[in-house]
Amino acid sequence: MNPIQHVAIIMDGNGRWGKKYKNSRNAGHRAGLNTVENIIYSSIKNKIKYLTLYAFSTENWKRPQSEIKFLFKLLNNFIDQKIDEFNKNDIKLKILGNINIFNLKLKKKLIKSEEITKNNMRLQVNLALNYGSKSELIYAFNKLKKQKLSITEKNLEKYLYTNKIPDPDILIRTGNTKRLSNFLLWQLAYTEIYFEKKLWPDFNKNDYSKILKKFKVTKRNYGNI
Ligand code: IPE
Ligand code: IPE
Ligand code: MG
Repeated sequence: MNPIQHVAIIMDGNGRWGKKYKNSRNAGHRAGLNTVENIIYSSIKNKIKYLTLYAFSTENWKRPQSEIKFLFKLLNNFIDQKIDEFNKNDIKLKILGNINIFNLKLKKKLIKSEEITKNNMRLQVNLALNYGSKSELIYAFNKLKKQKLSITEKNLEKYLYTNKIPDPDILIRTGNTKRLSNFLLWQLAYTEIYFEKKLWPDFNKNDYSKILKKFKVTKRNYGNI
């Protein structure tokens, strides 16, 4: 049986769900938050140590202003409403991505949330926000160049947002789309990938359990036989 330390998820399909059931993409984003919460607590039950959630990509800025605004309002409210509860449940929050371009109030809120939960041990939730794998890698390579460090896997990984976090064992993408969309391109080198037909708001604990179960009996070769 494979142990599961780290699950990463591309939470896709909110917009289509909202359009289909409520005639509003934003309604789908709101509904998707319930799934986020369910999957966080399900991860704890399954003794997973790291859960990485792709919430906003460096490419998502191309979306209409009104949708971007709504997404950040949801994020703000989610942090306000949930951070104390997460803290009580021994959950650590870490942001992956460049938050320097966010408005100061949100930036401070995110840093404070990381700060108050930093010693928590039960589950680490990595929220990928304004995250793009290509810019993460370019940043890391430039750091190595500036510091005249040799380009090795170990040195490079020190400058990734995921420094000290083990690579994902499992990647799940909901929403019936088979692509990586600039997510963790380096870190997913040997990850088992599961593409799920359901849209993110419809994805539930049962669906999650099925994937974890399948993974546990998968033979991982890492190039060996
Ligand atoms: C994923 O759902 C959430 C974000 C990118 C913020 P989408 O909004 O991409 O939903 P679809 O793919 O358009 O249905
Ligand atoms: C990936 O979903 C990003 C997030 C889930 C945050 P997208 O919906 O943005 O991906 P593409 O653009 O369809 O590849
Ligand atoms: Mg999408």
